[in-house]
Amino acid sequence: MKTHELMEKIISLSKRRGFIYPGSEIYGGLAGSYDFGPLGSMLKKNIKDSWWRFFVENRTDMYGLDSAIILSPSVWQASGHAAGFVDPLVEDLKTNKRYRADHILEDLNFDIKGKTVEEMSQIIKDHGVKSPEGNPLGEVRTFNMMLETQLGAVQDAKSKTFLRPETAQGIFVNFKNIVDTFSPKVPFGVGQIGKAFRNEIAPKDFIFRGREFEQMEIEYFIREEDWEKEFMYWKDEMLEWMGTIGLDMNHVHELEVSAEDRAHYSKRTIDFEFDYPFGRKELYGLAYRGSYDLSKHMEGSGEKLQILDQEKNEWFTPHVIEPSFGVERTLLALLVSAYREEEIDGEVRTYLALHPNIAPIKIAVSPLLRNKPELVEKAKEVFGVLKREFGNVSWDDNGNIGKRYRRQDEIGTPFCLVIDFDSLEKGDVTVRDRNTTHQERVSIDSLIPYFKEKFSL
Ligand code: GAP
Repeated sequence: MKTHELMEKIISLSKRRGFIYPGSEIYGGLAGSYDFGPLGSMLKKNIKDSWWRFFVENRTDMYGLDSAIILSPSVWQASGHAAGFVDPLVEDLKTNKRYRADHILEDLNFDIKGKTVEEMSQIIKDHGVKSPEGNPLGEVRTFNMMLETQLGAVQDAKSKTFLRPETAQGIFVNFKNIVDTFSPKVPFGVGQIGKAFRNEIAPKDFIFRGREFEQMEIEYFIREEDWEKEFMYWKDEMLEWMGTIGLDMNHVHELEVSAEDRAHYSKRTIDFEFDYPFGRKELYGLAYRGSYDLSKHMEGSGEKLQILDQEKNEWFTPHVIEPSFGVERTLLALLVSAYREEEIDGEVRTYLALHPNIAPIKIAVSPLLRNKPELVEKAKEVFGVLKREFGNVSWDDNGNIGKRYRRQDEIGTPFCLVIDFDSLEKGDVTVRDRNTTHQERVSIDSLIPYFKEKFSL
C-alpha cells in the first residue's frame, strides 16, 4: 500500500469508528486541532495507564506528580524558554502563509544542521527556494512557540503568562517539595502525564504535530558521575515499554542528536524515531539535561534545590536524565503498527492488530440472535461477569454476526464472544480471535482464567 494511502485510511477509520474527530468540526474545524472520540479516549487512557504502571507504580524509586499547566512566568524566564524556545519561521511573500523554514529546506535535502536563521535565509536566496505554493519566500526569523495567555481582568504585561510547552518544568519547580516531604535518596525520579501547548507554526500530519498535546515525562535525578550508565539504562527501559504496548519495533530507530541540534539544556540526546507513513519522524526523546534546570531555578528563585550527601556531609545538585514521550505520537504509531488489510473470499477485511492490553475494547459479547430472550439473558449474564473482571468489555448486538465481527475487527477488539443455542445446553461459548479469525469453544466457567492468560494479567 502506498504510504499516503495508508495515512488516508487511518484518518478515515479514526473518524468513522470514533477514535479521532477533526476539532471544532461543526464550525468548519480548527487547523491542527483534534478531538479524541469514545474509542480514541479509551486508547489514549490505556497508553497512559500502561506508561504510569510501568514507569511509576511498578517501581520503588519513582514519584508521581500532577502539576499546574499555568506556571509563574518566572519559571519560563529561568528555564530559558521565554528567550530560547523558538523555531525558524519563513513567510510566503504572496499568500502570507507561514512555514517552518527548516522543514522546507530539509524536504529539499539541504543540510541545515546547526544553521542560524541568517544562514537559512542565505540558502533560500542562493538556491531560489520557493514556498510549497511556488511563491518567493521572505527572510527567516525566529518565532517563540510559547502559547501566551492573560490571567485576571486587567490585560497588561504583568498579567501575561504562558501555557506550559513541556510538563518537565512542573517537575523541576516541585523538586524541593518532593525532597522535603519524602526525603528520597538519589537516584530517584518524578513522572508526570499532562497537556503541553506549543504555538506550532505549521501543525501537520494529523495528530503528529499539534498545538495542544499530551506528554508523559520523567525527570530522573542522579549523581553526575552516573550519567552515562543511567542514560543507557533509561534507553533500555524506554525500548522495553515500547515493546509491551505493541509498537512495531522494526519501525523504531535511534538517532543520536548532534550537538548543534540538541535543545539548549541537553548534553546528550537520543531521539527515538518511527517510520510514519509521511516519513521517519521523532517519536520520543531521551535527554541528559545535566544540572541545567535545577541550577537555573536555584538562580531564579533563590531556593536551594539540592540534596545532602549524608556520607560526605555535602550538598550537591543532582543531574537529570529525561525520558520524554508524546501520547498522540504513540497513539498514531500504534495505529500505523496495527493497521492490517487482508482479502478473504474476495472481500477486504480490515483490522487493527492492537495489543490486547492497549485495545480500547478487550472483548465484545453478543447473543447469536437478539430477538431470542433466552440467548440475550445468558449473554447479559456472561457480559456482566466479564465486564466486572476486565472493565473494557462491550455489548454488541447490532446487525448480523458478520457485521459485528467486521466492526470489532476495525476497532481492534482482540476477542469476540458469541452465546448461541449450544451455550444454553452445554455451558460454553464461541470465542473468535481477531488476528486469525479462528474460533474455539470455551466453557463459561473458565472464561476468566482463559482471558487472563490471553491478556497476561
Ligand atoms: N521535556 C522535553 C521535551 O519537551 P521535546 O522533544 O520538545 O522535549 C518531547 O518533546 C516529546 O513530546 C516528543 O518526543 C513528542 O513525542 C512530543 N511532542 C513534542 N511536540 C509535539 C507536538 N507539537 N505535537 C505532538 N507531540 C509533540
